[in-house]
Amino acid sequence: MSDTFDRAAENVGNILAMEHLNLTVPDQEMAALFYVTGLGFTRDPYMDFGTFNMWINVGQQQFHLPKSKAQRFRGHIDITVPNLDELKARLERLGKPLKGTEFGWEIYDDHIGVTCPWGNSLRCFAPDPAIGMELGIHNLEMQIPEGTSGAIAEFYRVAFATPATAIDGISKVCVGTNQTLQFVETDASIADYDSHHIAIYVADFSSPHQWLVERDRITEESDQHQYRFQALTDGTDTALVELEHEVRSLHHPMHARNLVNRNAGQHFFNFRRGREAFVPGS
Ligand SMILES: [Fe+2]
Repeated sequence: MSDTFDRAAENVGNILAMEHLNLTVPDQEMAALFYVTGLGFTRDPYMDFGTFNMWINVGQQQFHLPKSKAQRFRGHIDITVPNLDELKARLERLGKPLKGTEFGWEIYDDHIGVTCPWGNSLRCFAPDPAIGMELGIHNLEMQIPEGTSGAIAEFYRVAFATPATAIDGISKVCVGTNQTLQFVETDASIADYDSHHIAIYVADFSSPHQWLVERDRITEESDQHQYRFQALTDGTDTALVELEHEVRSLHHPMHARNLVNRNAGQHFFNFRRGREAFVPGS
């Protein structure tokens, strides 16, 4: 026992990381322009799918962007970037080449709101010591129907043994040390689910699987290290909301893979040898 330290504040739940968000895009060239040139992220140099797919590294998270009809995340993708001024300068240069698409951006008090060429909403924040991340996807904020936030928090608590709260119509799910999934009730109409997905890593892999099997909610037994489900459910037959989760064990070959990130502040005219890589805190 200690009355000096809040030991409980150090706890994390069973979901240790949200690693990637998969959103299909119809145009790889335009996606590279937006995610690499504009946002300053890094195309994964090792998992190279040519012009069919692209993995974009954002710190220890990724966007997966296979080529197909555009998918949209129903909410906001919250990202920590190292430098908002540099981001603004890059976004200013994208207006012309992305003219005629849904691309746009706006400066808010604490972030830059950016809309991708196909309508996805990204909110870019400067590093926050309370989050403890300098580059990465720190939160996904998804719209949910009115009256479902309590049951969604309960779903993550019971099925995944991870801390989750529901306060004022917002369920907030703890993911590892520095990420969250948030589900925000809205009375506005929510777009139909279009099969985009997220990937999470869990420490206890079999208990959530068993819970989902008992409710017939597994949609894919991918391999030894991965399964998928799509419906967030209150344990009955009712799907509260759909968001495919690729659930991976810590034995998955890609767990904690070292993702390459570049220093987006480097360009032809200010190049300094040895500063090519993104280094937190530099
Ligand atoms: Fe995936």
